[in-house]
Amino acid sequence: MKVQFFILLLIISWLTQKITCVPQESRVLDRSSFPDDFIFGTAISAFQSEAATSEGGKSPTIWDYFSHTFPERTNMHNGDVAADFYHRYKDDIKLMKGLNMDAFRFSISWARQIPSGKVKDGINKEGIQFYKALIDELIANGIQPSVTLYHWDHPQALEDEYGGFLSPQIIDDFRNFTRVCFENFGDKVKMWTTINEPYVISVAGYETGNKAVGRCSKWVNSRCQAGDSAVEPYIVSHHLLLSHAAAVQEFRNCNKTLQDDKIGIVLSPWWIEPSDSTSFTDKEAVERGLAVEVDWHLHSVIYGDYPEIMKKHVGHKLPSFTPEESKMLINSSDFIGVNYYSARFTAHLPRIDPGRTRFRTDHHYEKRVTNHSNHQIGPGEE
Ligand SMILES: *[C@@H]1O[C@H](CO)[C@@H](O)[C@H](O)[C@H]1NC(C)=O
Ligand SMILES: *[C@@H]1O[C@H](CO)[C@@H](O)[C@H](O)[C@H]1NC(C)=O
Ligand SMILES: *[C@@H]1O[C@H](CO)[C@@H](O)[C@H](O)[C@H]1NC(C)=O
Ligand SMILES: *[C@@H]1O[C@H](CO)[C@@H](O)[C@H](O)[C@H]1NC(C)=O
Repeated sequence: MKVQFFILLLIISWLTQKITCVPQESRVLDRSSFPDDFIFGTAISAFQSEAATSEGGKSPTIWDYFSHTFPERTNMHNGDVAADFYHRYKDDIKLMKGLNMDAFRFSISWARQIPSGKVKDGINKEGIQFYKALIDELIANGIQPSVTLYHWDHPQALEDEYGGFLSPQIIDDFRNFTRVCFENFGDKVKMWTTINEPYVISVAGYETGNKAVGRCSKWVNSRCQAGDSAVEPYIVSHHLLLSHAAAVQEFRNCNKTLQDDKIGIVLSPWWIEPSDSTSFTDKEAVERGLAVEVDWHLHSVIYGDYPEIMKKHVGHKLPSFTPEESKMLINSSDFIGVNYYSARFTAHLPRIDPGRTRFRTDHHYEKRVTNHSNHQIGPGEE
């Protein structure tokens, strides 16, 4: 449960910050410690919480398929029961209200809304109804809904048909799915996220193969059935960014969304520091590292292109945006969401075996938990 881990981390970091800067006798952390308009909330994703994976007209998602087809690759876990949110959301909302929460971030399951993935094949009314009821229940309890459109779980049907985010075909299907969401929920939802953590989708899904769809080069992870860790992460992020831009275009053209409604992307950057702060090559490695860890997706949604330093290192493997696409991407986020997990030290990686290229080493740096003088940096696994 990555999302919950993040919230916990946030609270811990606020606590430590507070504890170090307030006098002993007033070590109280409460709402008055924050600005009046600070929004407190909780968050989930559809696959991690809903369950009801084949109920209410929903089709299987890539995570249903991955966790059932290769159970050993997900520690024998799947989303069949999860938090049973589909059935228990009313009780959960009572709990949120009891916690005095202002907002709730959840994701809409594309497969619950449009089972084939394609609008032309029909919209699942029961799916729309579920999210409408959820949004109404939140609002009735004084909790603002904040919707994520894609939290890693597109319909498996699109994976089978054209390879999901490996194909540019997904952009128009995503555009149409998001339009259905804006039309149905845009009058009540004021804050939207297009894509949650594109870096994790591309790297865990197509570089290490640890998460759905579980593709990678065989030599990287022998459990991957197929894939190419040196090429596919770049292609997938390219299509994720274009899907984000297409959704934002629909959002800004949609009559059901208002001028002050916001749409943005949520990233999961890791901060990095040089492994040896006296080494020029390590400091350069940090620059290359930040271009990948942060700017790969951040720079693109602000300036409409990949960072120069990344283009230089990846060369022809990095797809390029047409002037039209670039225009769509410029200023395409009203806000930037940050899910912050941890940090790493970074060292220059001088040599790469040309027979074993992969995304992770393309940029000639490696991330480490301890630095040159054995000092340890933040927790968490990648
Ligand atoms: C998306 O929706 C539009 C408008 O309804 C339609 O013309 C188009 O064919 C749809 N695209 C796809 C890929 O289904
Ligand atoms: C949105 O509103 C404008 C102006 O009221 C109207 O011309 C347009 O047809 C509407 N578009 C849709 C998709 O309803
Ligand atoms: C390792 O990190 C610690 C803490 O940030 C720092 O004081 C130390 O100088 C670092 N060592 C090197 C070799 O950069
Ligand atoms: C993006 O938005 C900023 C702030 O509104 C603005 O200054 C900038 O000119 C915009 N960029 C482009 C290329 O439109």
